[in-house]
Amino acid sequence: MKLPPFKLERYFARYEFTAKYLLSSSDCESMTIQELLALEDGSSERFFEQWLGYTESPGSPLLRQEISRIYETISPDQVLVHSGAEEAIFLFMQAVLEPGDHLIVHWPCYQSLFEIAQSIGCQVSRWEAREDHHWELDLDELGKLIKPNTRVIVINTPHNPTGYLMSKADYQAVHQLAESRGILLFSDEVYRESEYLPDDRLSAACDLGNQGISLGVMSKTYGLAGLRIGWIATKNGDIYQKIARLKDYTTICNSAPSEFLATLALRHRAKLADRSLGLIKVNLKILEVFFLRYQELFSWQRPKAGPIAFPRLIGENVERFCDRLVNTAGVLLLPGSVYGHPGNHFRIGFGRKNLPDSLSRLESFLQR
Ligand SMILES: Cc1ncc(COP(=O)(O)O)c(C=O)c1O
Repeated sequence: MKLPPFKLERYFARYEFTAKYLLSSSDCESMTIQELLALEDGSSERFFEQWLGYTESPGSPLLRQEISRIYETISPDQVLVHSGAEEAIFLFMQAVLEPGDHLIVHWPCYQSLFEIAQSIGCQVSRWEAREDHHWELDLDELGKLIKPNTRVIVINTPHNPTGYLMSKADYQAVHQLAESRGILLFSDEVYRESEYLPDDRLSAACDLGNQGISLGVMSKTYGLAGLRIGWIATKNGDIYQKIARLKDYTTICNSAPSEFLATLALRHRAKLADRSLGLIKVNLKILEVFFLRYQELFSWQRPKAGPIAFPRLIGENVERFCDRLVNTAGVLLLPGSVYGHPGNHFRIGFGRKNLPDSLSRLESFLQR
């Protein structure tokens, strides 16, 4: 198996720890271990007592129990913990796909959601989100993309990079279509619980039936990317077992301190999600004023969920613009070309505390 470079991650590798103003991050503001431990009395003592031997391969029972509470109908033994969502994507694709299988992917998207399938020798069709349709997906198009050998449909809503949130009706329709054709629905839900209106939240795919696989993570809405804890939740025991068997070849089990901290964090997940959402909403207001002021330079569509959006730059080539911006002003945006997207878009992130500062640096750059 040969995998080409992960363009987004390589772009971040160049700048993420050198650029001073990160204005394209998809994770929300994080915190220290001390701040996390402060959520619960006695937790510091318990953390110091954490045993550092191997942990249970599927994830500690306590952690799986907390994760299962995110869902309506999932039990702890239907949760498989991984090192981040990234490992879960990798192992899911390896576990279910054979060369010659067909996969449909919500596009543009996080590269691993299609690249791993391609490297296995699968055919990949893009189910394309278009700016002139408010980044919405067309169900008729999905119907036409399905082939006899379609094994998986991949969706990501709330969506990276556009912030698009599928309607409940469309989501049900996608699930029904997948189920009626015996296709697996791999639902990347890493931005779930960051909907601006709580009523807009979609059911998790794993709660809808046996064909649904939900992907979750501590990194985004909960702001704890450094824990590297992600998971898959599914009622499909066969798929679960196949993935579990492959995990023996990647990480075997998860980091014990991370599992402890993730368990603690999930006991307070509403508080953590509120904290992120509060920041997102304040930053979004600032961004809206900014984009109104610079409407001749940017085309902006307000997302419905999550800490990222995908505006279009009008005029200059977006790669050149992002390079000039990071090299002269230290502000990091992410050109849409890292998604292989041909439009002149860039990803902007607004889940961090220093957004006002980063944005004012961008503004000074524009006024130069
Ligand atoms: C849609 C999507 N899926 C999966 C991931 C991987 O998450 P993690 O880096 O926490 O493993 C990301 C990270 O940016 C993402 O945006």
